[in-house]
Amino acid sequence: MLGRLIGWVLLLFGFEIWYIPLIQPQERLRPDHRPWQDIITGLYGVPPLLKIHDRDGDVKWSFTRKDVTHNLPPGLQKCLYSNANDATEVKWMNNGTSVGAIYSDLALVINYTPDNPGTDKLITFAVCLDTVLLRNAHTVEPLPGQRFAIATTGQRPWDGILVYNASAGNALTDDPPIIQNITGLRAIHGMIWDEQGQMLWAAGTDAAADGSDLISAYGTIVGYPWNATTGLLNKDNRKIYKIPEAYHLMTEWGQGYPWWAGLHDLVPVPNQRKFLVSEDRGLHAFDIELGQFTEHYENVTDRYMQGFECTTDDRYGYNSDGEWQELPQSDLKSFSLASDGSFIYVQSLWKKFRGFHTSLVVNGKRRKINIGDEIYRSRWYGDIDGWPKPKF
Ligand SMILES: *[C@@H]1O[C@H](CO)[C@@H](O)[C@H](O)[C@H]1NC(C)=O
Ligand SMILES: *[C@@H]1O[C@H](CO)[C@@H](O)[C@H](O)[C@H]1NC(C)=O
Ligand SMILES: *[C@@H]1O[C@H](CO)[C@@H](O)[C@H](O)[C@H]1NC(C)=O
Ligand SMILES: *[C@@H]1O[C@H](CO)[C@@H](O)[C@H](O)[C@H]1NC(C)=O
Ligand SMILES: *[C@@H]1O[C@H](CO)[C@@H](O)[C@H](O)[C@H]1NC(C)=O
Repeated sequence: MLGRLIGWVLLLFGFEIWYIPLIQPQERLRPDHRPWQDIITGLYGVPPLLKIHDRDGDVKWSFTRKDVTHNLPPGLQKCLYSNANDATEVKWMNNGTSVGAIYSDLALVINYTPDNPGTDKLITFAVCLDTVLLRNAHTVEPLPGQRFAIATTGQRPWDGILVYNASAGNALTDDPPIIQNITGLRAIHGMIWDEQGQMLWAAGTDAAADGSDLISAYGTIVGYPWNATTGLLNKDNRKIYKIPEAYHLMTEWGQGYPWWAGLHDLVPVPNQRKFLVSEDRGLHAFDIELGQFTEHYENVTDRYMQGFECTTDDRYGYNSDGEWQELPQSDLKSFSLASDGSFIYVQSLWKKFRGFHTSLVVNGKRRKINIGDEIYRSRWYGDIDGWPKPKF
């Protein structure tokens, strides 16, 4: 009788208020404790450079291959010293004691322990990307249990995500074993762990973005639920969400260009169950509870990124239907929102793949930092409120 009464009361007040535990931010993550000062940026070049700097661009830590003084297996050494200029991904990891990155021809995890020079900048995990499958890998994300996901960012049906064991307890090897191989999502450029939903989210396209499938490719977000018993990610057909329209990229790249608009960065809104995702043409907002895209283009910047400015004045042209188009939000290769409302972004030059500064917006006012650096990604070097990375 009492149980039934409580049941009715719960229904009256809305079941979910009582049943979904809210994530309590750790003490140091509460907004008043959070400086939101540190930013990590990857610089293209041979060799590439990773740097952690403040809002003025003043560098407090950097990593380049010359910093690696310990012995590496020959394959990893060769990939570290390749001619690849990539600094494609840079992420806060391991409670702020590591950096996860794509650097030169490696996906790797490096210690970030500036107070302890003996361990700082040691590579604790690495995979060579110089293989057919990983050649174009664009992003990485830590998973629970010291696992590490690498997106293959390819166009074939067997492309997707490879999961590795990135435990620092394992010796570095040229052939680290693959724990899981999740196929099906093409051209993945963004991944984010969802602690509350216990899921890995990835942003890619449902078919070949380069047009080689001869069908339209739609920007697609997929959630892969984590099974803590098996330690594996699952596929769930209910967690596949497509941008409603597919677009050719001819406005930017010219008539006849075969590529379809794909997704670039998948970014959580602090303390909300929402993502923003940048597609080649502009921004979309996605509400996880609704399972829907809720805002598009300028409605996204109006609501979540006030002070966003187009960084060049040449982002226009004719689309595949011969219509004139202006794409001020195009090519946002990375962006990152802080809980104090400030945000950073990197927009590549029009018809190029990288930008030459990072934009920082504070109180709706933009300024440029890292001026002159060739950049694909800059992110806050910190845990995002409401979106804690897995604890190792
Ligand atoms: C995470 O880092 C903070 C300080 O940077 C420290 O107080 C806390 O104990 C760390 N948490 C874990 C689980 O190591
Ligand atoms: C992952 O699985 C696909 C499909 O079974 C296969 O083609 C591909 O080679 C596998 N990748 C690896 C790295 O084992
Ligand atoms: C990963 O490696 C560590 C260290 O060897 C080991 O303890 C752990 O069981 C491994 N995890 C998986 C999922 O294989
Ligand atoms: C997780 O995997 C275990 C073992 O296969 C299975 O019994 C369980 O139902 C799975 N849990 C979920 C939520 O799918
Ligand atoms: C922005 O929101 C307004 C009001 O809801 C709507 O009419 C408009 O179509 C939206 N614009 C875009 C680009 O989605």
